[in-house]
Amino acid sequence: MRIVAEGLTYTYNPKSPFASHALNGVNVTIEEGEFFGIIGHTGSGKSTFVQHLNALIKLTGGSLKVGDYDLADKKCDFLELRSKVGMVFQYPEYQLFAETVEKDVMFGLKNFHKDMKEEEMRAAVKEAIERVDLDYEEVKDKSPFELSGGQKRRVAIAGVIVTKPEILILDEPAAGLDPLGKKEIMDLLHAIHGGWCKTIVVVSHDMDEIAENCTRAAVFSEGKVVMEDTPAGIFRRGDELLAFGLDLPVTAKCARILKERGVEIETDFTVEDFITKVLAEYGRRQG
Ligand SMILES: Nc1ncnc2c1ncn2[C@@H]1O[C@H](COP(=O)(O)OP(=O)(O)O)[C@@H](O)[C@H]1O
Ligand SMILES: [Mg+2]
Repeated sequence: MRIVAEGLTYTYNPKSPFASHALNGVNVTIEEGEFFGIIGHTGSGKSTFVQHLNALIKLTGGSLKVGDYDLADKKCDFLELRSKVGMVFQYPEYQLFAETVEKDVMFGLKNFHKDMKEEEMRAAVKEAIERVDLDYEEVKDKSPFELSGGQKRRVAIAGVIVTKPEILILDEPAAGLDPLGKKEIMDLLHAIHGGWCKTIVVVSHDMDEIAENCTRAAVFSEGKVVMEDTPAGIFRRGDELLAFGLDLPVTAKCARILKERGVEIETDFTVEDFITKVLAEYGRRQG
């Protein structure tokens, strides 16, 4: 399913003195199969945008299509859409509530498949828990509150992927985790990507994460998409990003310093590629 937003607008508390124009005409296309990044300053509209994708926020202006679902159409089957477009909120572990891990993950499934048999549900829940690399037998009867931060987040992700959504959206999935926890979450998303969930959309303020993981990304500023490109295309425009109040990946920072010293490195800004290109330049100078 391809996502196409055109002229998307959204205002919180319209007609009040506290009106907040969160989206001011968002145009963006996310192709099926992408690992798509959404970046932007705090308050630029990232969360408001992604919450439109499974109609948690109802469309009030512009158009939005997700596959064949036209979200402007009052007859759109929003429940079915939500089973195909899974949403993992920021700090999703705060929304765990059931007595056991198994019940928590099952809750996500029961919402969508009221007629599914108990054994079928249990099998789906087991599969989802194992997919997020947790030991089913070990965690199923535990309270989610007994688990570590990273494990809780995995349980929350299992509760969303249990419906096998075609598109998985995660708002800051690695926020607040230590470096190992972050890496584990990104590895997990790559393992899910393409098979379990065809398309992944991640909101992130971590530019290194975007440079390393995404096929393409959109930069939000003041409720609009101001850049939509590959990470290489985006991070080549370092001055503009800095002007939007954004950071750069460490590779882009290093490339800028090298350029000031007269060394130009053509890189896609992944660490692997950057090091390879720097070593090639070094070899050229030695030779
Ligand atoms: N529930 C809300 N009520 C009122 N204003 C909101 C609400 N959520 C977000 N906003 C405002 O909408 C704008 C965009 O916010 P948001 O989509 O959360 O941005 P981001 O995720 O990029 O930080 C901001 O100005 C924010 O203050
Ligand atoms: Mg946000």
